[in-house]
Amino acid sequence: MSVLVTGGAGYIGSHVVRLLHQRSESVIVVDKLSSGIKGRIDSAPLIDIDIAAPGATQILVEAMLKHNVTSVIHFAAAKQVGVSVEQPEFYFEQNVGGMTNLLQAMREAKVDRLVFSSSAATYGMPEVGSVTEDLDCKPINPYGQTKLIGEWMTANAARAWGLRAANLRYFNVAGAGWPDLADTATMNLVPIVFAAIKAGKSPVVFGDDYDTPDGSCVRDYVHVLDLAEAHLAALDYLERDHRENSVFNVGSGEGSSVFEVLEEIRLVSGIDFAIDIQKRRAGDPPKLCADVSRIEATLGWKAKQNMHSIIESAWAAAK
Ligand SMILES: NC(=O)c1ccc[n+]([C@@H]2O[C@H](COP(=O)([O-])OP(=O)(O)OC[C@H]3O[C@@H](n4cnc5c(N)ncnc54)[C@H](O)[C@@H]3O)[C@@H](O)[C@H]2O)c1
Repeated sequence: MSVLVTGGAGYIGSHVVRLLHQRSESVIVVDKLSSGIKGRIDSAPLIDIDIAAPGATQILVEAMLKHNVTSVIHFAAAKQVGVSVEQPEFYFEQNVGGMTNLLQAMREAKVDRLVFSSSAATYGMPEVGSVTEDLDCKPINPYGQTKLIGEWMTANAARAWGLRAANLRYFNVAGAGWPDLADTATMNLVPIVFAAIKAGKSPVVFGDDYDTPDGSCVRDYVHVLDLAEAHLAALDYLERDHRENSVFNVGSGEGSSVFEVLEEIRLVSGIDFAIDIQKRRAGDPPKLCADVSRIEATLGWKAKQNMHSIIESAWAAAK
């Protein structure tokens, strides 16, 4: 068995590549290195292409046949919500176009197992704080829409030609499994706060008047190593039997408020920074946490890490 990993040089993908290597699986990475780093994929061969580009399908087919690929894990995507609002065409071209080429290649090469990086952004602004996979998805930005379309595409391919897919809706990913695989982008709360305190600035909190216990937004944080392990559990699940197209929330199932995350960063870093409280941002629900019953019952996966180990590993890597 060999696994083709698109976006394997990225933050989450590189953790999965390392875990696959630890299981002695054969891994091939496809990555255009836009945000990925070649040094993160260890000994895996790299195919350096844009999967959304014309001609990518044929290169993917050849790679799948040459390396006897049996499964694909699809991380490669553009992922900045704000940019997706300004440049929706690019996001649809990259994320939907990339998925189109990939599925065409899988169909042609007769590779029928796929684990897809979806996102809690598919839910939009739900009225309940803890969401199950059956909730109606109403994404509120182009990024979340491209992820939901990706899920529709896997469902259609399952019906049309027997693709077996596990769509994983990640909640807030943070931490580092190994210091060299840390998140190098400053787009999520933890790296944003680290960047602010390193620059001697006060991290900004958007809104302290939400209907939550301390007034700040509550989110579900999952350690990247736990998340990476969920991909291996999903691969094993797809291999065990013929599976329907399925969707799983991947989170800790618990909520932490922005103030709680900041307090943990204070404790771990030993730096007592001030906070700059600004007005609420549009599009931020007060609470968004995963109901993780389905993934626990079906894949036997459960998050093992906690907020302390998330911040501790991220801080150690950032230093
Ligand atoms: N990080 C999060 O909090 C989070 C949350 C939900 C979902 N996701 C999804 O998880 C996946 C991985 O996210 P990440 O945080 O590791 O991001 P990342 O930017 O670190 O990794 C993405 C990788 O894909 C590559 N890539 C991007 N577009 C490509 C293309 N068209 N062709 C080939 N390679 C391409 C990049 O070079 C990079 O190595 C993405 O699909 C993202 O939408 C991430």
